Amino acid sequence: YRNIPSLSERYRPYFRIGAAVNAKSLNTHRDLLVTHFNSVTAENEMKWEEIHPEQDRYEFAKADALVNFAREHGMFVRGHTLVWHNQTPAAVFLDDLGQTATAAVVERRLEEHVATVLGRYHNDIGCWDVVNEAVVDAGTGFLRDSRWLQTLGDDYIAKAFRIAHQAAPDALLFYNDYNETKPDKSERIYKLVAGLLDEGVPIHGIGMQGHWMLDDPALDEIERAIDRYASLGVRLHITELDVSVYGNVHGTGGQSQEVLPYDDELAKRLAKRYRSLFSLLRARKDVIESVTFWGVADDDTWRDNFPVRGRKDWPLLFDVNHGPKQAFWSVVEF
Ligand code: XIL
Repeated sequence: YRNIPSLSERYRPYFRIGAAVNAKSLNTHRDLLVTHFNSVTAENEMKWEEIHPEQDRYEFAKADALVNFAREHGMFVRGHTLVWHNQTPAAVFLDDLGQTATAAVVERRLEEHVATVLGRYHNDIGCWDVVNEAVVDAGTGFLRDSRWLQTLGDDYIAKAFRIAHQAAPDALLFYNDYNETKPDKSERIYKLVAGLLDEGVPIHGIGMQGHWMLDDPALDEIERAIDRYASLGVRLHITELDVSVYGNVHGTGGQSQEVLPYDDELAKRLAKRYRSLFSLLRARKDVIESVTFWGVADDDTWRDNFPVRGRKDWPLLFDVNHGPKQAFWSVVEF
């Protein structure tokens, strides 16, 4: 596959092209990464439970390897993520007796964690997903009922951004979320970020995860969300793009158990979808600075287990053998 055009070169006039990488794919997908991507995100290796599994123990080896790889190849690094309800040790919120820790203790731990991690990578990581997935999906509530909210209270998000800004004054700080184009949820994300900006909180961008499907969300829904967020004057990154081949048929949210054969017809439908997505993203290059795929090739994708455990999916531009799919050509040839 040596004589194919470089995706990131093709997109240089538009935005960076990134990929989520893990310790394994850093090796197995090395050639694809070097050729087609100019930005990387750690799929898991910088999450609290991985990089800071116990109060007094940090595990930097995998994150270091990723950052060194990026430096060697002149790639941008998106830091992911600091404050999230998932993949964070329960002990962060507990005292020595196993009781709920006080706000003061948890805040001090957050400061220590952020200062340590952002400090270590301040030369190499240009932007951070400071807070991930903090608003509710549906219903009438606003903020997700997480340990962070329970211990630190409503302004934990503002606090997290201030702490991150203090630790890395030059880093761009993002709020990142999924279902980010759904009308109700995008309105919540908009309100959250607008409120933070009003209070003078150092927040510079919104990460739209982009875990999309063949037929959902509709293009105009995505377009509306982009325009709404852009009206806040913040930067936009598509942070975790992948397109499940399992569409939202009959409103199942892509959760049907049926496994589709990845045949030519499906490959064509995926290519068509990617082409229209990328034409839209290109048309908004003034506000979109970066588009990161959540993975590199179909042999290593979290979509194999989400939302249906064990169901094979083919959401990326490179196939299980690392060759370019029709979807690759559909976004490169225009
Ligand atoms: C996922 C990883 O891809 C999986 O390997 C892990 O088991 C769970 O997390 N939203 C995010 C990402 O912000 O961090 C998640 O990554 C996918 C959804």
